[in-house]
Amino acid sequence: MSQDAYRLIGPRGNEMELPVHRGTTGPDVIDVARLYREKGVFTYDPGFVSTASCKSDITFIDGEEGVLMYRGYPVEQLAAKSSFIEVCHLLLHGSLPTQAELDDFENTIRRHTMLNEGMLNFFKGFRYDAHPMAMLSAVVGSMSAYYHDEMDSSNPDHRDIFAHRILAKLPTIAAAAYKLNIGQPFIYPRNDLNYSENFLHMMFAVPAEPYEIDPVASEALDLLFILHADHEQNCSTSTVRMAASSQANPYSAIAGGISALWGPAHGGANEAVLRMLNEIGDASQIGKYVDKAKDKNDPFRLMGFGHRVYKNFDPRATIIREMCHKVLDQLDREDTPLFDLARELEQVALHDDYFKERNLYPNVDFYSGIIYKALGIPTSMFTVMFAMGRSVGWVAHWREMITDPQIKIARPRQLYIGEPKRDYVDIAKR
Ligand code: CMC
Repeated sequence: MSQDAYRLIGPRGNEMELPVHRGTTGPDVIDVARLYREKGVFTYDPGFVSTASCKSDITFIDGEEGVLMYRGYPVEQLAAKSSFIEVCHLLLHGSLPTQAELDDFENTIRRHTMLNEGMLNFFKGFRYDAHPMAMLSAVVGSMSAYYHDEMDSSNPDHRDIFAHRILAKLPTIAAAAYKLNIGQPFIYPRNDLNYSENFLHMMFAVPAEPYEIDPVASEALDLLFILHADHEQNCSTSTVRMAASSQANPYSAIAGGISALWGPAHGGANEAVLRMLNEIGDASQIGKYVDKAKDKNDPFRLMGFGHRVYKNFDPRATIIREMCHKVLDQLDREDTPLFDLARELEQVALHDDYFKERNLYPNVDFYSGIIYKALGIPTSMFTVMFAMGRSVGWVAHWREMITDPQIKIARPRQLYIGEPKRDYVDIAKR
């Protein structure tokens, strides 16, 4: 047996050598692709806890060590030194841009921020209190009706324009959804502003008076977008890959990713954290809620705790926690009690055996909602903020998959546990 192979020993001495793939870093991967064809058996892995669904050179996570790298660059360095737009270039193109490349890329994104006027009519059709995530996925899905002449995924120019449109227009769509919710007029983008400033302008400006953008707010947003930009094969990214593997148009695939992100076990957790902190209300109630989270007969979970991959700490949570201090100090906000409550809950959970034994640590969403709230962004928009940051990850993975010559439609198999064959019974005889 070669060193890079696993031996699978089946019944009656039926053996097979399975090749092993070695990545740049991270665990080895056993290749089971030939298993069914040669041995007639499937592998079983609900939730894909031990399954690599693809090869990728975009993002690396080491869950034990709390490492997250985009294209090899540690997220801590990018958070300290880079900007969201530069990170977008890095994720999409694989390398840090030169100044000229960055200027060109940023200029392109700024010039695609407007929506086709017809798309604004969609918003008139939604109920005034529609959830912004519902509007986001619907309107992004509708982009395939507006830009259908430039979405041939085999055409590199079409792939580029799709990427630019998604990145540039998502903030415009998101802000329009918010304006509908609060009954204010839609605010057009301003191309003299950077990505985060422009979003704040579209969210908070009104036609009646000038709006001044707070630099602390745009800095905090930019950081949050960097931290959310990609996270390898998470649920929403895998949804995008799976939908697009059928050669479905990329806007539909991104709309699918947005829907998957909305779930409270994924991106919807940031909204759920704030609802939970409000429900707990006071530090004296923490013990009661921690007990509820530990009770197997109670469906309550501590939102913002635990992660499928991070089993030591979430590096994004550490960075956000620091930014949380800065934002609350500099904006002089009154949300400090909520932040204090969050920190106290964190301490109680970190010292509790149940959470320690299961390696449940605060994740990225535990603190992000507190920052959003301090910036005046309503709870219903929290997951939309996550979607804006993650949009570049979805697009980068879509581009990687669609240009892979070995691309196959994603089609998992199953372990059938239903009835064996039986004969139809006439209705009178049942
Ligand atoms: N509160 C209480 N118990 C928990 C929690 C929690 N937040 N998370 C996991 N557990 C327990 C779970 O009950 C199980 O216990 P036992 O072994 O006794 O049955 C054990 O920990 C392992 O949990 P799991 O559900 O098998 O773990 P998973 O990897 O399938 O789930 C998770 C990961 C993130 C879905 C889960 O930890 C969770 O629901 N957390 C709360 C929601 C949340 O904050 N999600 C945001 C994730 S970060 C943002 C993103 O990347 O999307």
